[in-house]
Amino acid sequence: MGSGIAQAAAVAGFAVVVRDVSEPALRRGEAAVRSSLDRLVAKEKLGTAARETALTRLSWTSELATLADCGLVIEAIPEDTALKRALWQELDGRCPPATIFASNTSSLSITELAAATGRPDRFIGLHFFNPVPLMPLVEVVRGLTTSAETFDAALAFVRRLGKEPIVARDRSGFIVNRLLVPYLLDAVRALEEGTGSVADIDRGMQLGCGHPMGPLMLLDLVGLDTTLSIGEILFQEYREARFAPPGLLRRMVAAGFHGRKSGRGFYDYTAEPPRPSDLTL
Ligand SMILES: NC(=O)c1ccc[n+]([C@@H]2O[C@H](COP(=O)([O-])OP(=O)(O)OC[C@H]3O[C@@H](n4cnc5c(N)ncnc54)[C@H](O)[C@@H]3O)[C@@H](O)[C@H]2O)c1
Repeated sequence: MGSGIAQAAAVAGFAVVVRDVSEPALRRGEAAVRSSLDRLVAKEKLGTAARETALTRLSWTSELATLADCGLVIEAIPEDTALKRALWQELDGRCPPATIFASNTSSLSITELAAATGRPDRFIGLHFFNPVPLMPLVEVVRGLTTSAETFDAALAFVRRLGKEPIVARDRSGFIVNRLLVPYLLDAVRALEEGTGSVADIDRGMQLGCGHPMGPLMLLDLVGLDTTLSIGEILFQEYREARFAPPGLLRRMVAAGFHGRKSGRGFYDYTAEPPRPSDLTL
């Protein structure tokens, strides 16, 4: 998500500093941006000059201190409240008071993350969708303490990216994941219960409901580890069975099947085209 957000901002004209924890992670992010820009050029959605300019606007670093000059910091690290709060605390000490902080969290409370900083009024949720360069939506989430100025600046930023903002309250999962995640988890339950095969569950929702992608392939795109964390956080918040991650999802994450990013999830991405994974259920 981080590389996608960085790419969208660079294409829109912003100078972007991308910070990750390790060199391999940075190289993965950079490679993802390059191949995404190449695909946009091949589809004639972007010119070659615009691709080159976007690449020059991006810089890559593992040094947190490099973010000190940024007017807006968008965090897209794993969906873990302790990890996010620790990072925000550290950033709070390094960035000038005027810098706006935004989290791309899918399910954590914006108010709680904001409270980890000394600038809860300049903290907001900007929830992007995967893949960021193609998906037009951003959920803009106001915490209890977010100021009107921060909200207006965030809306203006989203519009400058050429994206469409919707406004969501600070409730776990906001609008889209509150509706989407129970559906995705139900698809895993249907598979676990033997209702249909991976291919048939996905084809069913594509051809029967007009979805561009079936739920199991979408889970692979989102990341099974990320979805497991989101389901756990939503369940903790609402205590409703529909948000509880099914056992199969938990076992797949334990086995290292994290979806497309790990090469294997409900589908095996080492095959071209990807084929349903051989899973012993
Ligand atoms: N996957 C999706 O479809 C999706 C969609 C919308 C929002 N989100 C949210 O975006 C965030 C990231 O999700 P993802 O799927 O991109 O996760 P990911 O695991 O694919 O990527 C996380 C990245 O963060 C880096 N990282 C870990 N700790 C860090 C730290 N302390 N400082 C800087 N970088 C660090 C990792 O090296 C990795 O590159 C989560 O909050 C998730 O809920 C995900």
